[in-house]
Amino acid sequence: MRVITFGTFDVFHVGHLNILERAREMGDHLTVGVSSDALNFDKKGRLPIYLQMDRLRLVEALGCVDEVFIEDSLELKERYIIDHRADILVMGNDWQGKFDQFEAICQVCYLPRTPSISTTETIEVIKNR
Ligand code: CTP
Repeated sequence: MRVITFGTFDVFHVGHLNILERAREMGDHLTVGVSSDALNFDKKGRLPIYLQMDRLRLVEALGCVDEVFIEDSLELKERYIIDHRADILVMGNDWQGKFDQFEAICQVCYLPRTPSISTTETIEVIKNR
């Protein structure tokens, strides 16, 4: 089974590692779409701390990740799922219900987020030290 997931993975933390490891355990091949700097700017109104090529390389270096690509557009999600021949789309449950439309082309699974950690919170903690 081929698994796909998406995310920014900025200021990489253990919550990111946990979801990628759990996603990989759901199949035997994991593809990760790492969202581009421009896409993040559109979504969150700020650029990530780490550049997209660095975020991509950090994710690619993990033992649980088989393949990576840059996600340039939210509208292309269906295309990415098809092109990467994904059987299962995995997302954290902060996205619960948001990707149900893809059930027409693959299984959609939301995994519980790791509590008490996020990129936004980590940046805030560092700022306030
Ligand atoms: N994720 C998770 N547990 C966390 C944080 C993130 O399982 N504590 C998952 C998200 O649900 C998503 C993936 O990791 O499927 C990538 O999330 P991303 O948005 O890059 O990380 P966040 O830490 O949530 O970033 P931000 O604070 O900027 O929203």
